[in-house]
Parts: sequence; structure tokens; C-alpha cells
Amino acid sequence: MYKHSLIEASFLHRITTARRGQQWCILDIVKILGIESSCDETAAAVIEDGRRLLSNVINTQIDIHAVYGGVVPEVAARSHIEVINPVIQQALAEADCTWDDIDAIAVTYAPGLIGSLLAGTLAARTLAVIHEKPLYPIHHVEAHVYANFIVEQKHTTLPLPATQPGFPMLALIVSGGHSQLVLFRDHGAYELLGQTQDDAVGEAFDKVAKIIGLPYPGGPSIAKAALEGDPRRFSLPKAKLAGKYDFSFSGLKTAVLRAVQKEVGVDFTYPSHELPALVTAAMQNDFAASFQRTAIETLVDKAERAFNDYAPKSVVIAGGVAANQELRRQLSERLPLEISYAPMQLCTDNAAMIATLAYFYAQKNEPTDPYTLEVIPSISMTQTAWAK
Ligand code: KG4
Ligand code: ZN
Repeated sequence: MYKHSLIEASFLHRITTARRGQQWCILDIVKILGIESSCDETAAAVIEDGRRLLSNVINTQIDIHAVYGGVVPEVAARSHIEVINPVIQQALAEADCTWDDIDAIAVTYAPGLIGSLLAGTLAARTLAVIHEKPLYPIHHVEAHVYANFIVEQKHTTLPLPATQPGFPMLALIVSGGHSQLVLFRDHGAYELLGQTQDDAVGEAFDKVAKIIGLPYPGGPSIAKAALEGDPRRFSLPKAKLAGKYDFSFSGLKTAVLRAVQKEVGVDFTYPSHELPALVTAAMQNDFAASFQRTAIETLVDKAERAFNDYAPKSVVIAGGVAANQELRRQLSERLPLEISYAPMQLCTDNAAMIATLAYFYAQKNEPTDPYTLEVIPSISMTQTAWAK
């Protein structure tokens, strides 16, 4: 079907696409437009050669959902629909690109909120048909790891890593929906070493923030409050699990709830939504610092264990919680290798990571059919490992 296979084309390093009759002829992909809408950020970005950031536009819905204390799926979907076209146009404009310059489109098709995923995939499918571009379906969680592969930029001044990570690569993926340790032997070839047995670590940050009365999203609020607090004021438990590299954060969250109830002098029957009114600013700071220290130590303990067992060439962190400075500090202190961290803007949801992964994915996979691409709200990246 392909005049040149993508694998063959990857040796050229520069691949462009052209449509001949009904067949895709893939010669050289240079610029990929990424589209991301899996949760509460509508994003589009252009990435060149899987390493160079040309534009990165993110429209966050944080203010819209803050009044509800969390993401409301229907509201999220509607907002994506309203802004997706302007966001894509802005990403093209900021990259100095017209549609003629774009060689392929990449879109998050899984996992995420179904209405949110549909907004992005339907836009991508339509644009792929109209502009005759190959379309690549990208797994959101796997893509978070690829924020670490963005090492050059044209129009921005982000603090990017100097080089792309080498394989084998140990990835600690920590977001609002996932906490996983994954060993990448190559692009698309990875094995899950461990994962959370209950809440994701980002979810625990969000829930603990709610308990102590800090604003949504909880991760940044807790990180900020923790700067003023005493991380040793409250002693909180670390879960002991059978799986060597597994995590559990649900018990830690409940331990914070019980400690807060005790500190303010109420029992466990007291309505938790009325607790924040009893928590002083000093208590908030100390709970934030103590929780953050324990949650981050738990992550770093397991990452260190995996590092010692597998001796990877590189270690990367990915997902929203990777923006946490205490995580970066503890990891760098405990692991005996130089770790380069992606800038904060590329740790939380964005489309640059989607386009970056697509560059590597496109070298081993054919594009998908834009008329039939479906979204998958729940699927683990280990079920979609694509290296052949
Ligand atoms: O990756 P992401 O943007 O969305 C998902 O795919 O889930 O991650 C969002 C999560 C939220 O739980 C948020 O509270 C957390 O990342 N987060 C942080 C920080 N910034 C965002 N957690 C800890 N420290 C931060 N600085
Ligand atoms: Zn994410």
C-alpha cells in the first residue's frame, strides 16, 4: 500500500507525505500537528522531527471547573467544542505554518472522558479528510512520557532537556488518573513494572486538597501550601504492598482525613465537606507539607527500587505530578544519575507530547482511517504497546 514503508522512511529522518490517487505515499514527515482534548485542557501544537517545538497552545478549563471542585464531564466536552478550532488555528499561526506545511495529524484517542475525547478526535478526523493528511491515534498516558523528548524550540524559551533520553528508560508516570512505573526498552516496547492499586497520586493530591480546603486543582495548591508548612508535623503511613513496584494512595488520603478530624477535635462522623471551615492556614500548610512528603517518598522509594533492579540508562518522570518540585528534588537526591526534567508546561496536559510520540509511532505504524477512528475511554498503554 505504501510506496515507501514508514520504517524505510525513518532512515531518511525526514519524511514527507503526498497523496497519489487513493494511496498514501510516505516519503518524509517533517511537521506534525498534535491535538489533545482528553480531559480539561484543549490543546494543539506543532512538532518538527519529533524533537523541535514550533508551537504549543493550551486552553485550560481550570476556572470553569473550579466552582464545582472538580471536572464536570459534560461541561468539559462543551468547552472543547467551543474552542478547538481557534486553538488549532493559533497553533498553526504560532508555528508559522499553513496546512500545506503540515505532514500529519496526531490525536489523543484514549484514555479519557468520552465526550472530551470525541471533541478532539472528531476535529482531527475531519481535518485529516479535508486537508488530506495521514492521521495517527495516540495514547495519552504514553504521550506524557514523550514530553521528555522535546529538546529544541523555535519560538519559545522553555527550560528544555539538552538531549533525548536513552533506552532502556525507566518512566515514572504520575498524573491525575495514573501512577505507573514503566520500563521502556525502545519506542513502543515497554513493560509495566508496577502501578497504583487504587487512587492515582494526582487524585490523592486533589482529594487531600479538598479535605483541608485548598482550591482545585489540588496538586499545585498543595505544593504551594507545603512551602510554608512543616513536613514532619504529621506522621502519615506508607502502604505496604505485595507488588514490589506497586503503589497505593487511598489509605494515605484516609489517614490525612482522620488526622485532620483529630486535629480540629471532631470524630469520624463529622461531615467532611464542613471540615475545611475548621482548618487554620497553619494547619493547611503543615498537612500539605506532611502529605506531600509522604506521597513523594512513596513514589521515589519504588522508583529507586526499580532503578537498582533494572539499571536503566535514563529515568524520566511524566504526567501532571511530574511538575512537582519536591518530586524532582527527592529523585535527584536519591538516584545516582543526572535526570533532565521537562518544563512544567509540558508535564501537564498538552498537545506537543502527542505530536512528539506520533513521530516515533509513525515510523512503525500505518496511519489510521479517518472515517472510522473510535475513542477508547479506558485502556492501559501496556495493551497498546506498538513496537513490532
Ligand atoms: O497529566 P495531567 O495534567 O492530567 C491527567 O492526565 O490526569 O495531571 C493532572 C494532575 C492533577 O491531579 C493535578 O493535581 C496534578 O496533576 N498536578 C500536580 C502538580 N501540578 C499538577 N501534583 C503535584 N504537584 C504539582 N505541582
Ligand atoms: Zn494527562
